[in-house]
Amino acid sequence: MIPDSFIQELLGRVDIIDVVERYLPLKKAGANYVACCPFHSEKTPSFSVSPTKQFYHCFGCGAHGSAIGFVMEYAGLGFVESVEELARHAGMQVPFQRTEDRRLKTEAAPLTEVMSQAAKHYKEQLKVSPKAIDYLRGRGLTGEIAARFGLGYAPDGWQGLAAIFSDYQNKALVECGLVIEGEGGKRYDRFRDRIMFPILDARGNVIGFGGRVIGQGEPKYLNSPETPLFEKGRELYGLLQARAAIREEDCVIVVEGYMDVVALAQHGVGNAVATLGTATTPVHVHKLLRHADRVIFCFDGDNAGRKAAARALEASLEQVADNKTVAFLFLPPEDDPDSYVRAHGAESFRRLARQAVPLTDFLMQELKAGKDLATAEGRSQLVHAAKPLLGRLQAQLLRLQVVKQLAQASGFSQAEIESLCELPAVVRQRAPARAARGAPSPMARKLLRLIVQQPGLAARLPAELIPEGLAEGDALAALVSDVANGHLAGEGLGMVLEHFRGTQHEPLISAILGELVEQEFDEESTEAVFADTVERLRQAGIRGEIDALNAKQKSVGLAPDEVRRLQQLLAQKQSVKPGASA
Ligand code: UTP
Ligand code: MN
Repeated sequence: MIPDSFIQELLGRVDIIDVVERYLPLKKAGANYVACCPFHSEKTPSFSVSPTKQFYHCFGCGAHGSAIGFVMEYAGLGFVESVEELARHAGMQVPFQRTEDRRLKTEAAPLTEVMSQAAKHYKEQLKVSPKAIDYLRGRGLTGEIAARFGLGYAPDGWQGLAAIFSDYQNKALVECGLVIEGEGGKRYDRFRDRIMFPILDARGNVIGFGGRVIGQGEPKYLNSPETPLFEKGRELYGLLQARAAIREEDCVIVVEGYMDVVALAQHGVGNAVATLGTATTPVHVHKLLRHADRVIFCFDGDNAGRKAAARALEASLEQVADNKTVAFLFLPPEDDPDSYVRAHGAESFRRLARQAVPLTDFLMQELKAGKDLATAEGRSQLVHAAKPLLGRLQAQLLRLQVVKQLAQASGFSQAEIESLCELPAVVRQRAPARAARGAPSPMARKLLRLIVQQPGLAARLPAELIPEGLAEGDALAALVSDVANGHLAGEGLGMVLEHFRGTQHEPLISAILGELVEQEFDEESTEAVFADTVERLRQAGIRGEIDALNAKQKSVGLAPDEVRRLQQLLAQKQSVKPGASA
């Protein structure tokens, strides 16, 4: 855990403009800075960074956040890593509250260094190994592409890495998976006599390797184990190299193998990436959809490919949105992308990609498979099988499309499908679960909006005006008390967002900040609107209480103190002109 006070200090010290510029060039436009959005594909810049708000926002895709959030999204780093990255540039030391975290993190730096040295070594070894060069040539690769992917060669021999690491006993070598410690403590290189494919993170650090045998042998590919640097379910091979092409085409193709990525690039299909010998995870899909509106999973046409596609489908259900396309491309059974593009060329491959089966169609195919829809049993099984998947499909329109298709195929009505599958009538696509508790309160939301802009206003909000039982009210209460206690002292939207990171209020606060950045605000009008809103809320409260007392008077009558209260309220109501500022 990193203390919140440090996060605030850090955000007070760094300037989001500098941070973003480290990754992409910004142009000044009025008070703000703009660029083409790195999180979706576009030709004209709608990505805006505000130095006063210390916040970035894309008017196209809605991405927004603080300097920390930017590094997380852009570089694909975790929260702690992003904080460390920013702190490093700012010359600050991250105080960890738990000592084991510090151990893990301070050790990660030398690991990256070790990996980078190893990658350099393997690359040099490739240059002097005719056998390895011949192998790659035989697979149709040029030196240029090999260089682009940083391909290398790990020579045969048990302790080849001892040539570059003077301390072969260094435990970092084992920790980053390059060296294996056998029984009795004997150490040897994991990768021997293999073609090496370095796996890079978004910053270009080497975080792992895949090593292929030259010719025949088992296992065909040997991969780095999971290490502090390398988590297979998050990483995609070739993403860094593919980024420009993905943006250009607004489409990313996901294949199964290292060689598929490299061979496609060799033939001019630059927008391919691969999962790393693991099933596609929701994290993968989330990452991919951030880079492009269209994701095409390309699998071998065999049984295993079909199974892998089904896994990818499941991982996509919660991630896909109504403005995105996830599709599935099945190659002829005898081909993989590498052999296909070599035999038929890039144009033919692209044509296939354009004809990929969209997610909803593939979902229907999978659901129908093996069921005899001519029978009542088969049609029931169809809906039974759909239930768990349909509930996870978050995109409303896509889901409705599937419901319609299911209705047609099963003979149930749409309403029956919806109730049998226990689908709520309307899906809330992004709203936090908590927001569903009460009716949304526009007033409370407005107050939240005003106070996050100007936390100083919190002190002027009477506690009794904070609505109870609403997500907005809860967030408002938390905000007011945090400001009062000095827990949220800094300026800027980024600071507020980071303050609520990981709390139940985060989704709501984030949504509100997203609404906010679209408008300019100045202090004076913020104050006036605030005063007006508080007054309206007070009046609404008075009216509500009057209505309740009036109703009671009509039904069971009022107690003497209630009569007094009613008179008081009526006087208060009259004493204030509607819309006046307090
Ligand atoms: P494939 O067996 O389909 O190999 O594995 P490939 O990609 O066609 O490789 P080439 O063309 O023969 O060189 C697909 C992916 O599965 C993982 C690797 O990530 C590989 O790229 N894999 C495969 C392993 O991790 N280990 C293995 O032994 C085999
Ligand atoms: Mn292959």
